Amino acid sequence: MPPTTQKALLLERVNGEFYTSARPVPKPAPGELLVKIQAFALNPVDYKIQHSDFFFMKHFPAVLGSDIAGDVEVVGEGVQGWAKGDRVFFQGNLADSDYAAFQQYALVPSDLAIKCPENTSYEQASTIPVAFMAAAYGLLAPEPMGAGLYDAQVKFSGSSAFVLGGSTSVGQYVIQLLKFHGFSQIIAYASGHQTQFLKSLGATDVIDRKKVPLDDLPVALEQHLTNELKITYDAVGSPETQQAGNLCTLPGGILISTMPHKTVDLGDFGKKFFNPMAVVYLPECREFGRVICGNLEEWLRTGVVIPSIVEALPVGLEPVLSGLERLRNNQVSGVKLVGRPDPV
Ligand SMILES: NC(=O)c1ccc[n+]([C@@H]2O[C@H](COP(=O)([O-])OP(=O)(O)OC[C@H]3O[C@@H](n4cnc5c(N)ncnc54)[C@H](OP(=O)(O)O)[C@@H]3O)[C@@H](O)[C@H]2O)c1
Repeated sequence: MPPTTQKALLLERVNGEFYTSARPVPKPAPGELLVKIQAFALNPVDYKIQHSDFFFMKHFPAVLGSDIAGDVEVVGEGVQGWAKGDRVFFQGNLADSDYAAFQQYALVPSDLAIKCPENTSYEQASTIPVAFMAAAYGLLAPEPMGAGLYDAQVKFSGSSAFVLGGSTSVGQYVIQLLKFHGFSQIIAYASGHQTQFLKSLGATDVIDRKKVPLDDLPVALEQHLTNELKITYDAVGSPETQQAGNLCTLPGGILISTMPHKTVDLGDFGKKFFNPMAVVYLPECREFGRVICGNLEEWLRTGVVIPSIVEALPVGLEPVLSGLERLRNNQVSGVKLVGRPDPV
């Protein structure tokens, strides 16, 4: 039996402070699992929420964190195919603290729970959901959410793609998915010291962002291109990178950006633009989210998806705060910060 209360890290309100407190361990409704959390990953949204209004954040104080891996503790009524002790990972729901990460137990609807294969540790699995979903919704989901590669009947050999922010967590999965879909050339824009790593994931070329400023990117990209550029994915998601991505995108090409809104003028060049919202709990995202969740165990087992490199934080919820500060100050390069709650 799980305990009745747990330790959690809560944000008191927008522009408020984080604090630790006890809160109830929730009970799974029919169709849900209660999971004992073993690892959770930190994402930029977790620090952004502290000082911005996000439409899905309706209730405060709130438990944050939306990348979770752990063990099934209680199987809710009617759930098939899961048993106590199964290793699981999933995207948490920031809109409801019972489903969020920075605590010891969380709920998950069983249709969004993914079996964690033996070749993947809890820490590695926790790096996947949010960043992978951003890559997958943008590239694979059908229009109007994404570029529709999942069901595309065309082959992409002989095509190029450009990943602005190749070493971001999202960018790493974008590179892997582009490779999976057969793109002949995958050019990444990232710090030069990430070159070997990004090539191991599938990048063919790396433009060093420490040598080439954003303003010079279209020219530098053109010098690298050996095929028609079909897709530009801005995985950094700032107004400046979205604009640079737009300038790099050819007429008739596709621009995808992780920034939640479009700030560029695409002009009259027949370009397509997608800005995926990687929240599997949103009604418009759920169906495709389920499709991706249904593939992930196999993609991990077979090496189609390689989890991000983990930097483990000290055990406990307090280290999350310094981790979020490092993300806010751009002090994390090419790794995912992963926390582990205090043992129960
Ligand atoms: N729309 C959604 O649903 C969604 C979902 C997930 C994430 N996001 C957003 O997507 C962005 C990336 O998230 P993440 O978790 O992948 O980030 P992350 O892993 O924390 O990003 C850190 C990386 O950013 C790179 N970087 C910073 N500025 C850059 C620039 N100007 N050009 C190229 N690379 C740059 C750094 O690269 P170096 O190694 O080169 O220093 C570093 O490796 C964030 O803005 C996040 O909020 C959106």
